[in-house]
Amino acid sequence: MEIKALKSTKTRGAEIPDVNLSRRLNAQDVDSIYQAILDHCVIYFRDQDLTQRELVDFTNNFGVAIEHVRKQPEREVKEIFIVSNVKENGQEIGALGNAELTFHSDLSYLPKPGTLSMLYAREVPSSGGETTWCDCRAAYDALPEEQKAEIKGLRAIHRHYIEEQNHQEVVDHPVVIRHPDTGRKSLYVGPHLTKNIKDFDASESERILGKLYTHLANSAFHWTHEWRVGDVVVWDNRPTMHRREPFPEQERRLMWRTQIFNDVIPRS
Ligand code: OGA
Ligand code: MN
Repeated sequence: MEIKALKSTKTRGAEIPDVNLSRRLNAQDVDSIYQAILDHCVIYFRDQDLTQRELVDFTNNFGVAIEHVRKQPEREVKEIFIVSNVKENGQEIGALGNAELTFHSDLSYLPKPGTLSMLYAREVPSSGGETTWCDCRAAYDALPEEQKAEIKGLRAIHRHYIEEQNHQEVVDHPVVIRHPDTGRKSLYVGPHLTKNIKDFDASESERILGKLYTHLANSAFHWTHEWRVGDVVVWDNRPTMHRREPFPEQERRLMWRTQIFNDVIPRS
């Protein structure tokens, strides 16, 4: 198999066509895909037909797929996390329901956050539920110089609203992080999981974060994925954030999700 040129020439959100992810990839293919992730931050493969085990095997090409910190019902392949609003016998079979999710970088409330995440669409609603990524490298680069100077060296506290998912100690990360593989800087704050700027009073923290969130909300940095059944989307959480549109409660959306962790703390 050959990893062909990407169909998209955009800087983010690129399709890799004609790859069957249920097959074992050779080292060169894995390198090409990882390079595409570094270049584009979000990549996707259409029309995949995978078992849970096959999705985990594909994920493990890029590190170690781990069990999510949020506990879910007993299941055969524990590295699979179900993102769904579907209920069976009155019980939710997965997490995140049907509501809007605002911009976040996965697991930033942990000392060593997620690196790559993957979502594999099994059932999609007829409307809503699109996922939008923000290229936080481009957003950082586009900041006025005086704003870059204002946030230089700052750190922010990150926390999950479900208390038991949090680490026992307060977690903070640099507001600007540098990607360990590309060296590129990106903004690493978002309205969903970032609480405040460390060591600043509340109003000053809100002023700085508010300005950054307004900047990050510019659609020039965004890329939206409209899901089709069979899509596998892979993203790098270090240079991106993502958000999800709500969708009608009575419709079904079912995603299988995997997560890679690195033994690395974010650095500026
Ligand atoms: C996630 C997430 C968004 C979506 O799984 O981390 O944010 O579109 N999901 O379901
Ligand atoms: Mn997420």
